[in-house]
Amino acid sequence: MREQLLAAEKVQAIAWRDGALHLLDQRVLPFEETWHACHSAAAVAEAIRLMIVRGAPAIGISAAYGVVLGARARLAEGGDWRVALEADFKVLADSRPTAVNLFWALNRMRERLARIKEGDDPLALLESEALGIHQSDRDANLTMAQLGVDLIRKHQGNQQNLLTHCNAGALATGGFGTALGVIRAAYLEGLVERVYVDETRPWLQGSRLTAWELAGEGIPVCLNVDSAAAHLMKTRGITWVIVGADRIAANGDVANKIGTYQLAVNAMHHGVRFMVVAPSSTIDMALESGDDIPLEERDASELLELNGQRVAAGVDALNPVFDVTPADLIDFIVTEKGVVERPDLAKMTRLMCRKRLH
Ligand code: MRU
Repeated sequence: MREQLLAAEKVQAIAWRDGALHLLDQRVLPFEETWHACHSAAAVAEAIRLMIVRGAPAIGISAAYGVVLGARARLAEGGDWRVALEADFKVLADSRPTAVNLFWALNRMRERLARIKEGDDPLALLESEALGIHQSDRDANLTMAQLGVDLIRKHQGNQQNLLTHCNAGALATGGFGTALGVIRAAYLEGLVERVYVDETRPWLQGSRLTAWELAGEGIPVCLNVDSAAAHLMKTRGITWVIVGADRIAANGDVANKIGTYQLAVNAMHHGVRFMVVAPSSTIDMALESGDDIPLEERDASELLELNGQRVAAGVDALNPVFDVTPADLIDFIVTEKGVVERPDLAKMTRLMCRKRLH
């Protein structure tokens, strides 16, 4: 199945070539496919902040390449480049707060940096670490896709109506996607009747990105407003909600795009299974529960305006862009290390002690 999945990998949003990071600009998809080149750590941080690149694993991968760009400039400046590079780590770490993959990738780069010895080629070693982070995310996606499909097959068998939220696809990762990776693989296995996609207000990751990815592969996709989800669960035979994650706390609470929590509550009410698909780089065992996860709030203009046109009178608007789904609403967390059913602290701890499966 792995080869079949690899052959189905069509969209790539991150490319490291000619010594620069190239990002498929997610602000203008699906109608424009524009590549944005980053030549410095600050440019990568800005691309993350502006959501030119978005999605937890993709943010982490980009930040790793950002460190390589930072190191190249600091080495060229001369002086104590390791000390100077700290400013680049900081600017990258400050770009967005919720996806822990960002901090995980920066830590990996920092650890690699610490192991560089006199006489080594620091740039080559840092570049190879960033490429390794990118490649291992692609591999993890394929493993998770297989594990997720096994769960769908085991629990329901025939063709399913699935619902997803936000974009946890190729655009949000190093390759095949997390939640969308499972959905793609399930489609290839003949297990999907239709995928319902929440439009995902206000940034429209669902309408602009997920629907585009799925339709591009001929997967039957139907878009709905976020607030239709409960109604669709009741009337359209939805059997699974499948989503990604930005940070998973040690007790299994999951931070993901705003609206995920209400989907989980509704899924529980309607007997719909709830699957979270995320690489272990999204798991933050340092945080006891979801209450400790920093949740980003973005500018109120995302709500007050549509395409630059004011749509609300002069009122305050609150724009939290992530929420926390409590572990007891989650049926499965699928990672490249294995599957956790009904997550809790003990199960998450056991999972994190395991090696990756492939
Ligand atoms: O604000 P975004 O678009 O970066 O939010 C992305 C999500 O919430 C995704 O579901 C999550 O990062 C998982 S991506 C594999």
